[in-house]
Amino acid sequence: MKAKRIKNLPKYHFAEFNEILKRKKDRGEEVINLGIGDPDIPTPDYIIQSLIEEAQNPINHKYPPYKGIKELREAIANWFKNRFGITLDSEKEILPLIGSKEGLAHISWALIDPGDMALVANPCYPTHRTGVILAGGSVYDLPLLEKNNFLVDFDEIQPEAAKKAKMMFLCYPNNPTSAIANEDFFKKAIEFAKHYDLIICHDNAYSEISYGEYKPISILEIDKEKKVSIEFHSLSKSFSMAGWRIGFVVGNSDVINSLYTLKTNIDSGIPGAIQKAAVVALEGSGEFTKNVCKIYENRIDMVINTLKECKIEAKKPKATLYVWAKVPEGFNSDSFTMKLLDKAGIFVTPGTAFGRYGEGYIRISVTQPDDLIEKAMNKLKKFMKKH
Ligand SMILES: Cc1ncc(COP(=O)(O)O)c(C=O)c1O
Repeated sequence: MKAKRIKNLPKYHFAEFNEILKRKKDRGEEVINLGIGDPDIPTPDYIIQSLIEEAQNPINHKYPPYKGIKELREAIANWFKNRFGITLDSEKEILPLIGSKEGLAHISWALIDPGDMALVANPCYPTHRTGVILAGGSVYDLPLLEKNNFLVDFDEIQPEAAKKAKMMFLCYPNNPTSAIANEDFFKKAIEFAKHYDLIICHDNAYSEISYGEYKPISILEIDKEKKVSIEFHSLSKSFSMAGWRIGFVVGNSDVINSLYTLKTNIDSGIPGAIQKAAVVALEGSGEFTKNVCKIYENRIDMVINTLKECKIEAKKPKATLYVWAKVPEGFNSDSFTMKLLDKAGIFVTPGTAFGRYGEGYIRISVTQPDDLIEKAMNKLKKFMKKH
């Protein structure tokens, strides 16, 4: 038995990919997985030590507060102030999440009713879209096109759709295209949202994963009064804590309160010891994140150089864990991905896993150890020589 809302969901491609990879592994075939953005570098030891200590404290064996522990909300506020210069009210403008994915999925339930519309970038992190569908809303695609540097073109949005929309998902630095957005872009987005009376849900999961001089900005640096914006953050990439399941949302207090009300009816918070460890992560010096960015950049250079040699078009990203590359002529996203998997033993994500405007691209993730990335790049070179 299946509810319509489950039947209506698009496939979660990553679950399907895992099955394909597992079958290959069971047959003894080696596959290097460059498909998923799951940091290979372990969580720093000082964070793990704090979890061990906190796990022994009986206070953390009880239900945690729905709003998250005060200490964590204050650590988030301090981190945000230091990083973006924005003051947050730790009671009303911050809500810890069981990973940002959880909040990104639930926010649509808090903001839209069945039949309402949401504007969603395409391609996108799949949860933006599926959250809307689960809440009974309809999705209006905002195509991310190369000619616009993969930024949303607000002038192209049909006014009729904008009038119907209650919310809009944006994500810069962008997964999957790695595009970045500047202040002007966010200004336009905020003006648009104010004009059409809609809420911007900005997914800033990669705010700390950037290269060279570039530092991603927060939408709240532009929407200082938090009139129309909320922003999702994740500790998964910044502190290699993907398995710990902790993130947070900040911004407009009414919207945060709606999400909080929804969540009090669904979950009972994040384990206390994990929240305490997140405090330790956020209060750290930032050295760990700086170092992992150096490691990722080195890997990105390896990938970009190989793609150049293979005459596959791709730009070096300024942020995120991904290289967004064009598939060679004669292939589409799926056929190139399957060929690479079968003939070269490399798994990359087809652009179409993120939406139909991802057609013609693949996403290569650099969350594997250097030697495996090097091995994969050698396999790619060999494969491309034959094709
Ligand atoms: C753009 C984007 N948002 C959110 C997430 C989810 O992160 P979390 O681990 O915090 O749930 C991811 C994970 O890859 C992502 O790429």
